[in-house]
Amino acid sequence: MSHTIIVTRTLVLMLLLLTTAVVMAGDPMKGRLLYENRCQGCHGAEGVPQVAGMPNFKMGTGLMQPDEQLLAFVKKGKGVMPGFKGILTDTEIRNIIAHVRTFF
Ligand code: HEC
Repeated sequence: MSHTIIVTRTLVLMLLLLTTAVVMAGDPMKGRLLYENRCQGCHGAEGVPQVAGMPNFKMGTGLMQPDEQLLAFVKKGKGVMPGFKGILTDTEIRNIIAHVRTFF
């Protein structure tokens, strides 16, 4: 097999992997509006809460866990925080998670 073919194949494979990663991770721009509407009231515009005892997203509190775990948490809720299952789709929640990870 020629060198060029191997290089091309590697590049195509890398591109495919990259595309998959982006799809899995959600769209931070789409998540922005959803965060503003659904989460900002409690979690604050910059991810800094106005109330004690809540995670500070700017400091990374509450975010040191895989996306899948965060997705499950947001669907279920905890204490004061309502569960968003049936209100937001998995894709919408993934977009919000991507937004929080990217912009705060
Ligand atoms: C009514 C207020 C309220 C709303 C609305 C709200 N949250 Fe929360 N959230 C909380 C509180 C309170 C906690 C702390 C819960 C605890 O640990 O007891 C929390 C915790 C979290 C955590 C930390 C998880 C962890 O394991 O510590 C994440 C992530 C989170 N919220 C994301 C979101 C997202 C995303 C939204 C919007 C879809 C949202 N929250 C909407 C009040 C709210």
